[in-house]
Order: sequence, then structure tokens, then C-alpha cells
Amino acid sequence: MWLDLYLGMAVVLSVECKPLNKGTHNKLLVISFDGFRWDYDQDVDTPHMDKLVVDGVKAKYITPPAITMTSPSHFTTITGRWIEDHGVVHNMMFNSTTHQKVVHKATLKRSEWWDNGALPLWITAQNQGLKTGSFFFPGGAANYSGQSVNRAVVEETGQQDDNETEWQQNIDTVLSWFTEEDFDFVTLYYGEPDNVGHAKGPDHPDRKTIIKQIDRTIGYLREAIQRDGLTDNLNIIITSDHGMTTVKKRPLVDEIILSKYLNFFNLVYFELLDYGGFGMITPKKGKEQQVYDALMKAPNLTVYKKEDMPENFHLSKNDRIQPIIVIADLGFNLNSRFIVYVNKGDHGFHMDEMDMKTIFRAFGPDFKNSYLSEPFDSVHIYPLMCKLLQIDPAPNNGSLSITEGMLVQNGGRRNQMSLGVLASIFVYILFVM
Ligand SMILES: *[C@@H]1O[C@H](CO)[C@@H](O)[C@H](O)[C@H]1NC(C)=O
Ligand SMILES: *[C@@H]1O[C@H](CO)[C@@H](O)[C@H](O)[C@H]1NC(C)=O
Ligand SMILES: *[C@@H]1O[C@H](CO)[C@@H](O)[C@H](O)[C@H]1NC(C)=O
Ligand SMILES: *[C@@H]1O[C@H](CO)[C@@H](O)[C@H](O)[C@H]1NC(C)=O
Ligand SMILES: *[C@@H]1O[C@H](CO)[C@@H](O)[C@H](O)[C@H]1NC(C)=O
Ligand SMILES: [Zn+2]
Repeated sequence: MWLDLYLGMAVVLSVECKPLNKGTHNKLLVISFDGFRWDYDQDVDTPHMDKLVVDGVKAKYITPPAITMTSPSHFTTITGRWIEDHGVVHNMMFNSTTHQKVVHKATLKRSEWWDNGALPLWITAQNQGLKTGSFFFPGGAANYSGQSVNRAVVEETGQQDDNETEWQQNIDTVLSWFTEEDFDFVTLYYGEPDNVGHAKGPDHPDRKTIIKQIDRTIGYLREAIQRDGLTDNLNIIITSDHGMTTVKKRPLVDEIILSKYLNFFNLVYFELLDYGGFGMITPKKGKEQQVYDALMKAPNLTVYKKEDMPENFHLSKNDRIQPIIVIADLGFNLNSRFIVYVNKGDHGFHMDEMDMKTIFRAFGPDFKNSYLSEPFDSVHIYPLMCKLLQIDPAPNNGSLSITEGMLVQNGGRRNQMSLGVLASIFVYILFVM
């Protein structure tokens, strides 16, 4: 009889635990397409993204954190923390004492820029026994308190960003991490449509062309998931970091040339300007008020003292935020002197401008079908990912209550497991009683 009982339980367990499942959770792949404005799929034929609306979850749009830039925003997604908490306050690493500036791609290998105490999900998940990977994702290649992500592939400077064959190869690679090496959580990053948005502007036909390419890539992803037998085991989140807006130029508008209003040589010690709609200035000692007053005269610009920034920016607490913050009105770029500004599109503007809003899509065994979510802040993606992976979140600023309505039975696999336990008890009663 005991033998029967064991056989009975073995059958129950082998039915419940499909080979790909290590624990009680499904696997998770998070994909970011940089600079995918929330409405980019609305004027292009996107059959695969349209099908996802039926087969999964779509948010009308999501709102990035207050610095609508690649590194700050991605790091909010992967930590669930506001920018003042995670400390990645710009795409460029900088030191306002030494005046050192490091360009974005070089920061990806500089742990000291990312490792400020807020642990990204890769590390938190690893500490709870999961295997995690990052393919090109911002922050994925850094070390955190001496720990590194199980596997991180870094994008090399000068690497071409829009090769569709390579996009598919990258999908094949990360899916093989799941199937052949039993990874639990992987993040995958693409540099488009951001590049095209900057170079050509969001209204250019080339932007529509790249959206079609992204849509085909999503179609490829879905086929590859089926091909690799991951359909019932893998949840997918597709999101992005910010939107894009057309840069307003002469003769339509006067560009904001800050040197017309501010004597940089006499008043400014350090500045991080000429980078989209967001900038920071460190006045020389004792010149704070003078800098502030001078900038207040510039049109199409909002100037904040660090201590007076609106609460909902969640920016003032961090030492890396410089004493004066400037945010240009939508479409105006910040020009410190007179640099010929080549970008036709840009971001970095206020997160409540519709052009800065971005996308959220999801599908897989734990997501409902045809579920349209109200807009939410991207900081809430973090607790959702923790729920899907069934791990304890690190302290964060997100809230699961915002996003859990998307889930089937609040996270399917655990419920199925408890069904398994019930079945075992039933088997026990059957054979023992
Ligand atoms: C900037 O560099 C100086 C000199 O090397 C160093 O003492 C300081 O800690 C650095 N500041 C930051 C915020 O890294
Ligand atoms: C992370 O730590 C490893 C081992 O100490 C080291 O080899 C690697 O260069 C570090 N990576 C970064 C980005 O600092
Ligand atoms: C795209 O990448 C593939 C694979 O690396 C390569 O063979 C091909 O030449 C590339 N295409 C272009 C247009 O660069
Ligand atoms: C920019 O500022 C000028 C001067 O204050 C103002 O006339 C103009 O309407 C502003 N442009 C926009 C698009 O807000
Ligand atoms: C964000 O979360 C951190 C960690 O729990 C906390 O210390 C901080 O106060 C939170 N920020 C806000 C604005 O609630
Ligand atoms: Zn960009």
C-alpha cells in the first residue's frame, strides 16, 4: 500500500511539474525596445502586435520616471525604485568635482555608476536561487556589491543596432538560455526605435519602417517560443523606457541658447546640458541665486532648485542631482552655447507629456487574454515581475495592486501546485483510508 501511495504521488508530481519548471514559477523574458512611444503602432500595420492585444495584456500607455532617458528609466524598471533612490540619474556618468563625463555606452561596463545600494531584480532573483541573464540591457553588465548577473552580454560601441537577422539571432540565443541552461529570468534590449527617432524624427517614414521590423521580430519571437516548446512555461513582457518628440527648430522656433542668458564662465562650475530636454547645472560657490535668476529669463524652459523640485519627480534626494535642474518645454532642446544640434527627435522632457509615454505589453501562461490595462507608472512593473517569478521583492516603490489584475488567478503556477498538493492528499486518502 505504501508503494501505491508513492506511485500515486509520483504521477501527480510528474503531471504538475513540466520538465522546464525548476520551482513553482514560470520563466520570464522582459524585452525593451528603446524609445517606443506609446502610439507608434497606431499609424503602421502591425499584425503581430495587434494579435498580442487579443492574446495577452496591453496597457493604454505607461509613464516613465521623471528623467525620461534610457539608463535612469530602465533602472527604475529593473529595481522598482525611483531615480533618487537608485542613483542612475543620467545616461552619462559624470563627476561634478573632476568634470569627468563618460558617454552612455561606456557606462554600461562601469559598475560604480549603477551600484548604489538598490539591487536590480537579476541579483535579488539570483540570491533566491534563480538563474538570470541580460542581453544588452542597461545595468545588466555591472557588479552589485561584488555580485554579477549569471550571464550578461554587453553591446559594443559602434555595433550596428538595426540588423533584423541579428535581432532574430538574439532571440534564439536568449531562448536557448531558457531551454538548454534552465535560466529563469532574462532581459533583452534593442536600441530601436530610439535611434531612428533621434536621427529622422518620430514622423519620418523610416520610423514606420522600423516599427514594422519590430512587429516582424515579435512575430518571430512567438514562432520561436512555440518551436522551442516554451509556450506554456514562458511569460513575456514587452516594454520600453520613454517616448520621442519632434525637435522644434528654427525658423519655427528660436532654440534655447543658454549662453544668451547665463554667463557660464563666471557663474557655472559644472554642467550637463546639450542632451535632450533635461539638464543639470552646478553653480560656482555662492552663485546659486544668480544662476537661477538668469535661467528664469530663458523662454520655453522650467528651472528648478534641487530642493524645490515637485514631489512627484522623486529626484531631489540624491547627491548626484546637481543644485539646478532645467527641463525644456516639449520639443525644445537645451543648447548651452551654440552647438549645431543634429537630432530631429528627442526625449528627456516632462514625463506627463503624452509624447514621453511608452508601451507595455505582456503574454504567456500567467497573463489574461484581451486585457486592457489603464495607464500606470513603470515603477510598478517590478513587483509584477517578482510575483511572476514568485520571489520576495527587495524594498521598492512599486505596488502589485496596480498590475496584478492582468494575471490569471494571481499567478497561475503556484495555484496549480497547490492543486497538486490537494491531489496528493486525495491519493493518500484513497490508498491509506
Ligand atoms: C569625484 O572625483 C573626486 C576626485 O577623484 C572624488 O574624490 C569624488 O569622490 C568623486 N565624486 C563622486 C560623486 O564620485
Ligand atoms: C565584475 O567583477 C568581476 C570579478 O571580480 C570582474 O572580472 C569584472 O570586470 C567586473 N565587471 C565590472 C563591469 O566591473
Ligand atoms: C546582418 O547580420 C548578419 C549576421 O551577423 C550579417 O551576415 C549581415 O551581413 C548583416 N546585414 C547587414 C545589412 O549588415
Ligand atoms: C516659447 O517662448 C516664447 C517666449 O516666451 C513664447 O512666445 C512661445 O509661445 C513659446 N513657445 C512654445 C511652443 O511654448
Ligand atoms: C521608495 O522605496 C524605498 C525603499 O523602500 C524607500 O526608502 C523610499 O522612501 C521610497 N520612496 C518613496 C517616495 O516612497
Ligand atoms: Zn534616446
